[in-house]
Amino acid sequence: ANVARMLLKQHCDVEVLMTQNATQFINPITFESLTGHKCLVDTFDRNFQYSVEHVALAKRADVVLVAPASANVIGKIANGIADDMLTTTIMACKCKKIVAPAMNTNMFENPIVQDNLKVLEHYNYEVISPAVGYLACGDTGAGKMPEPELLLEYILREIAREKDMKGLHVLVTAGPTQESVDPVRYITNHSTGKMGYAIAKVCMQRGADVTLVTGPTSIEKPHFVNVVPITTAREMFEEVTGRAEEQDIIIKAAAVADYRPRYVSDEKVKKKDDDLALEMERTDDILAYLGAHKTKDQFLCGFSMETENMLENSRKKLKKKNLDMIIANSLKMEGAGFGGNTNVVTVITEDFEKELGKLTKEETADRILDQILAQRDKKMILAIDIGNTNIVLGCIDGDKTLFVERLSTVRTKTELEYAIDIKNVLDIYHIHRDEIEGGIISSVVPQITTIVKLAVEKILKKNVLVVGAGIKTGLNIRIDN
Ligand code: CTP
Repeated sequence: ANVARMLLKQHCDVEVLMTQNATQFINPITFESLTGHKCLVDTFDRNFQYSVEHVALAKRADVVLVAPASANVIGKIANGIADDMLTTTIMACKCKKIVAPAMNTNMFENPIVQDNLKVLEHYNYEVISPAVGYLACGDTGAGKMPEPELLLEYILREIAREKDMKGLHVLVTAGPTQESVDPVRYITNHSTGKMGYAIAKVCMQRGADVTLVTGPTSIEKPHFVNVVPITTAREMFEEVTGRAEEQDIIIKAAAVADYRPRYVSDEKVKKKDDDLALEMERTDDILAYLGAHKTKDQFLCGFSMETENMLENSRKKLKKKNLDMIIANSLKMEGAGFGGNTNVVTVITEDFEKELGKLTKEETADRILDQILAQRDKKMILAIDIGNTNIVLGCIDGDKTLFVERLSTVRTKTELEYAIDIKNVLDIYHIHRDEIEGGIISSVVPQITTIVKLAVEKILKKNVLVVGAGIKTGLNIRIDN
């Protein structure tokens, strides 16, 4: 009932099915008043809206959770038995199915139950490990139903967000680092890790494979994320750079110490009557290292917290550390900064700047990821304009013009000559043909259009769109004259 309540809060449409046995523990009316739907128990109840209700329900569902799943229901599903509303519906369901076994420890450990769970996993059911603790029967061990919050996390992972990051490997850093002075003291900052944790969670819900390298924080670790705890800047450097190569996207939200005490005392430093000066040394700049060793197609996003000249300073960091994006926020802005649940950030790339306004950290994470995906998906297009005296060649990448060049046109050339000319220009700008998504030609010189079209197609190995092909070229696309 708690899971149903939490799902309703998230605006989900919840239908509850019960086995006959379950109705001994909780009255179906509880669910009916909660969800506003009839709680279905018997397949042959003539009061149902549809004669084949189990099939209609199965088609409508985005995800199914069986909780608590008894040894009996697990055994039935695993062996293809469908003899009531719950088991018939599950058999007709094509969506993701999640099972949360809950029973006496001895029953749970029974090899037959374990075999049945393996069968379910084999058929892509997700089996949630039961919690360990004091059970209703008086025994202590594995078999407890997990907390409703955890069950909710499993469901939200499936349905909360579109899976537009499926297949991407993302590394996120979060939280502060701690740099020891002696066994008792350390130097740190006010970072709570909230922003980085929100990013890791949203990436996970959008389908990415997420690693979170985190400094010490007091917030709950996100589920379904590979969490790597670290303490010092040095440890973060090792853990991040060791995993960097396989990442498609790296987002560095951590507040890494720029300095650490040069000497760490083995014993507690005792106070004296006069002042104390700590000698500090620089830590490695992890982000700068990543920028210098960026792999092809890897997207690198840093954070920048400023108290003055936010945009200017952040732009400098973007360039200096060779980043694709930097997320700037100002400590002076209301609703931004450490600890709070909201943030006000500006997304900055080389040719783009956008303030996102005051949003929750989770909303901010979503919007940042939208921007990252949009930037990653930029499409390079080669455009050629054939005029009577000039051939002009240009390349755009999303909203950015990479170059515009004029080709020598003293005479009409052969297809091969044009191909070599165009290839030479691409080489000058280090653009490989695989990076180019398509070509487009606009021409007023019919005689040359086909030759250039063939030349470009030879280079790109893709069809080229011709617009304004001039008169009588025989080409079938003609948008203007
Ligand atoms: N960062 C890092 N390694 C460090 C220091 C910072 O990776 N040793 C990263 C942070 O995770 C963040 C970004 O760099 O993404 C912040 O840039 P930084 O230049 O350190 O910002 P500030 O420390 O605020 O810079 P400054 O002292 O120049 O204001």
